[in-house]
Amino acid sequence: MEAKEESGNFTIDVASTLVDMLKKSRNDETYKDLGIDEYAVFAQGWEFFFAGYLGTRDLFGFLMYELACHSDIQDQLYSEIRIAAKGKQVVSLEEISRLPYLNACLKEASRRNAAFIRLERFCNKDWEYDGLRIPKGIQVIFPMFAVHMNPENFPNPDRFEPSRFLGNKEQDAYAYMRFGHGPRGCLGQRFALEMLKVLVVSFLIRFKLEKRPDTILETYPGGGFFFFMIEYKPILLDLVKRDTENIN
Ligand code: HEM
Repeated sequence: MEAKEESGNFTIDVASTLVDMLKKSRNDETYKDLGIDEYAVFAQGWEFFFAGYLGTRDLFGFLMYELACHSDIQDQLYSEIRIAAKGKQVVSLEEISRLPYLNACLKEASRRNAAFIRLERFCNKDWEYDGLRIPKGIQVIFPMFAVHMNPENFPNPDRFEPSRFLGNKEQDAYAYMRFGHGPRGCLGQRFALEMLKVLVVSFLIRFKLEKRPDTILETYPGGGFFFFMIEYKPILLDLVKRDTENIN
């Protein structure tokens, strides 16, 4: 934020918005009334780094792991990418966003490995539906990890099967919640998915992923640094360089 302020180059981006908010947190009466002080502004900046990098890093790691463990799925994804690449090493963003198997692989990796294990909301008014009563002030927890592993929605939930997300199969809209739901759902979902698609395509065009004898998906005991997250130990994989000269 300091660098942005010094540069004087204010555009529509997160850093410019935060600098603007910081100024208002000191002078603007509405901000004061709402209790938005400089700590609240710093927290927003932190949230972007935390929510943005951690979630994206984990999902990329999980998908790489699953692809290394399932060479048939990796081959199918590679073949979809090769067709889109049409002999080049680059696939346009427009083409990338149209790759159905890539989309399904990312969705399945995020279903199978929900590192943010739960979503939370505070109930701000008494609420009742179909005999279920939630009084005002209660914290409601949505156990994302368990919901993603419910065999009623995802048969054989332990299996990594991207084909679950292919086609127009009817699915409960709340069976999958990797990016949350509603007005407080993930702000960066579209950006994260686009960035991940570019990354996965650039990566798979160049490398084949292989499991090693010490490849293992293991969590740190007791979860992670944050109470609502499972933190995974580094995933070791071999990268075998592909012959990028002869893509066809
Ligand atoms: C694969 C990557 C990501 C995953 C899996 C992820 C997941 C989530 C989840 C589960 C939530 C809580 C949603 C809810 O309670 O309904 C959330 C919130 C949020 N995410 Fe992400 N996220 C990712 C990437 C990003 C990126 C790249 C950004 C920013 C550029 C971002 C910014 C945010 C913010 C600001 C919130 C809080 C929204 C609010 O409270 O109103 N996320 N994310």
